[in-house]
Amino acid sequence: MAIKILAMGGDGIGPEVVDAALQVLDVAAKSARLRLDISEDLLHGACWERHGSFLRPETLDKARESDALLIGATGGPQWDHIVIDGGPEDQDGLMKLRHELQVFACLRHARAFDAVLNRTAFKPEVIRGADIMVMRELCGGAMFTQTRGIDSAGETGRRAYDLNEYTEAEIERFARVGFEVARRRQGRLLSVDKSNVFIAGKLWREVVDRVGRSEFPDVDLTHLFTDNASYQLCCRPADFDVILADNLFGDLLSDQSGAIAGSLGMLPSACLAELPAGGRSEKPAIYEPVHGSAPDIAGQGIANPIGTILSVAMLLDYSAGEVACARKIDAAVDAALNQGVMTRDLGGSCSTQQMTDAIIREFRAL
Ligand code: NAD
Ligand code: IPM
Ligand code: MN
Repeated sequence: MAIKILAMGGDGIGPEVVDAALQVLDVAAKSARLRLDISEDLLHGACWERHGSFLRPETLDKARESDALLIGATGGPQWDHIVIDGGPEDQDGLMKLRHELQVFACLRHARAFDAVLNRTAFKPEVIRGADIMVMRELCGGAMFTQTRGIDSAGETGRRAYDLNEYTEAEIERFARVGFEVARRRQGRLLSVDKSNVFIAGKLWREVVDRVGRSEFPDVDLTHLFTDNASYQLCCRPADFDVILADNLFGDLLSDQSGAIAGSLGMLPSACLAELPAGGRSEKPAIYEPVHGSAPDIAGQGIANPIGTILSVAMLLDYSAGEVACARKIDAAVDAALNQGVMTRDLGGSCSTQQMTDAIIREFRAL
């Protein structure tokens, strides 16, 4: 049976990195004798320009019928002023997809690449061996609250608010996936919150603790306040395994962990509505790099495609059950970097296409 994939470049560098990742996917799928059924569509700004909508209903229907969505990035200053009737999810095509597909478990993977160790902002001995899975809750919290708005001016000027809210059910379902991911890695889960200040943080800690004690006693669970976790992530990144964070904190910590990998352009993600026990996820999942549309370098052919190429590896892993092929892509990325092939964000001089060609060459050689 073919894997049904909906590819959407989106905005800025999004189409450039998705094009690169599809080239790698094509080669990888052929080597694994995996049949692909790929269709493409417009998302967010690109869709607005053509159809006057951030996400068309027919695209959402197609997404629901897909096994996997491969997405580049969305957004740009030219669309920031547009306000759509509805909730926060209606303001952005990608957020709408995350919400509609309920891909609440976002796995953002950051590791220190040997070839890049001395090109990061860290001393090589501080980051060597670092391999971190930042798990970001992706469908709740302040980013998806319906309790948001801006009041008209009073004595103190206008008041704007976005409620930071979580239900027990939302925390529980996410924590379970986090513990399971930790179990499949080194068995260590660090949950972060601001339970010293926020009531929502207190509930977060209580529920994560309960799920851990009752269902995953074999996983080593630690809690840290998020500010301290962010500090520790700079000081001793190699000590982390899985970080469990809400939507906002996960957004921050995942970008921060990009510095360990040498560039934000190196980080892939898998956004899942369930963690498959092995084999293929039954529900549509979204695969996307962690970075944004990078308007500052869009259209120049210099974007780092590795985050999106590694997202294809995660797609093969979680939505196709092709674990060996996924690990081969990871290895091909390492091999290409070891050859010194690097884009500008890593201090190299290669184009997006040269980086992609090198990864494909190394994949074929493995
Ligand atoms: P950004 O991630 O787009 O860029 C941050 C910095 O990292 C920039 O200097 C950029 O040039 C660099 N960078 C990012 N990806 C790179 C890559 N692949 N190769 C080389 N350099 C790369 O974040 P931003 O500038 O804060 O946001 C720009 C736009 O993207 C905004 O509209 C924002 O809302 C949107 N955004 C979208 C997503 C997403 O679609 N998932 C994520 C983050 C930001
Ligand atoms: C990300 C981005 C998005 C988010 C924005 C663009 C809505 O920063 O995917 O990390 O905050 O989820
Ligand atoms: Mn982000």
